[in-house]
Amino acid sequence: MQNSEYRPYVAGEFVETNERYEVRCPWDNSLIAKVHLAGNKELEQAIVAAEKAKRAMAKLSSYEKYEILMSIANGIKAKREAFARTLALEACKPLKLALGEVDRAIQTFIVAAEEAKRPLSEAIKLDWTPAGKGKEGIVKYFPVGIVAGISPFNFPLNLSVHKIAPAIAAGCPIVLKPARKTPLSALMLAEVINNTNIPNGGISILPTDRNTGNNMVTDSRFSLLSFTGSPQVGWAMKKQAGKKRVLLELGGNAGVIVAPSADIDLAVTKCVSGAFAYSGQVCIHTQRIYVHRSIFDSFMEKFIDGASKLKNGHPLSEETDLSSMIDEMNAARVEAWVSEAINDGAKVLLGGKREGTYFPPTVLTNTKQEMKVCSLEVFGPVVTVEPYDTFEGAIEYLNHSEYGLQAGVFTNQIDEMNKAYNELEVGGVIINDVPTFRVDHMPYGGIKNSGFGREGIKYAMIEMMEPKLLVKPFE
Ligand code: SIN
Repeated sequence: MQNSEYRPYVAGEFVETNERYEVRCPWDNSLIAKVHLAGNKELEQAIVAAEKAKRAMAKLSSYEKYEILMSIANGIKAKREAFARTLALEACKPLKLALGEVDRAIQTFIVAAEEAKRPLSEAIKLDWTPAGKGKEGIVKYFPVGIVAGISPFNFPLNLSVHKIAPAIAAGCPIVLKPARKTPLSALMLAEVINNTNIPNGGISILPTDRNTGNNMVTDSRFSLLSFTGSPQVGWAMKKQAGKKRVLLELGGNAGVIVAPSADIDLAVTKCVSGAFAYSGQVCIHTQRIYVHRSIFDSFMEKFIDGASKLKNGHPLSEETDLSSMIDEMNAARVEAWVSEAINDGAKVLLGGKREGTYFPPTVLTNTKQEMKVCSLEVFGPVVTVEPYDTFEGAIEYLNHSEYGLQAGVFTNQIDEMNKAYNELEVGGVIINDVPTFRVDHMPYGGIKNSGFGREGIKYAMIEMMEPKLLVKPFE
């Protein structure tokens, strides 16, 4: 750890504030760092500076954006281990996953650097009718204005980067609020950003209390709110956001189908990781698995075997697969949902019992669709596995959900792949992998209760830009 005290980054300066709070590691409650809490005063300074920076950000050339974004990517790379250790401790994320997240953050900035060179534009013929004869249209995209970004605890670095990097590439100033429990890696990122030529006021990173966070949602000087977090909070924010655009990346209860033609060993390996990586605290966590009845027993045997081998331990240990959940309240909530399911007839095939903040890999079967472990976002290391008889029936099970982020389908039949793509009500269908699959340039977002709009650099840039039409004479 480089610092033991972290300060909000307000328009090019790390500022002291009157209130401090402690960030502790959920594994053993040990103190990691103290953080100066930003309030309305710092938010106001950040917004005023962002307003002043609007023009300079919008006027950055492609090569200037490229250089800034690549310099941030290289800055993170130079401190890869330090970033990973910080986010392992603050989020209780096993080191190997934390290193993976840092690598993804580097990649996300590299993608943004590339996308910054490809401005969106379109030339349209206007002479479809006599009224448009002799004219043509050009559509270019302009930065929407100041972005308010609010990122969650589960990917404290990369999901902050998914807001900051496209904002720079689109030419928008951004004020980012990292999650209160995990602000450290985002503030380390601020140190890297501070070494670049970004226009002053272009980026502020403020760990704030809830009240100041709410003011980010309601303040009309922001043109776009980009929020990643729970559906309950996200949809409430949308109601309060006024006229600004809103981009919501929320959660789900993602499902998987394993068909008889699938490579079962591949499906098992991927499902173990999708269900239990980072203790299931992932929006696209594999929560519901539907396996064809003819292969159910053999899938289940291998799946339980794989899940039982996962090692629990300190987040900094290289051996650890699963560490503590983010806090005891969430571990207790997951435990209550599992107990409720058991009382209603579910069978526990693995796990089920909490130890403080640690919740073990838990496999349930004989569940009902209306149980909380099936119908709500469990955000914990719990998975339900059920047999299905027809592919159509499996699709119906998967679609029987208020959510629709991503779905995974293991099959080697092209007709099933096509049917799944056409009929699953989700933002992304992943063939022969789990819904937990994500690379950072793909469009990412959900339908139904799972969100509104898309991230994935190019797609986030579209949200952060406004099309403007030019009609001009054309010979
Ligand atoms: C999320 O939990 O929303 C993001 C998952 C990821 O980026 O892999």
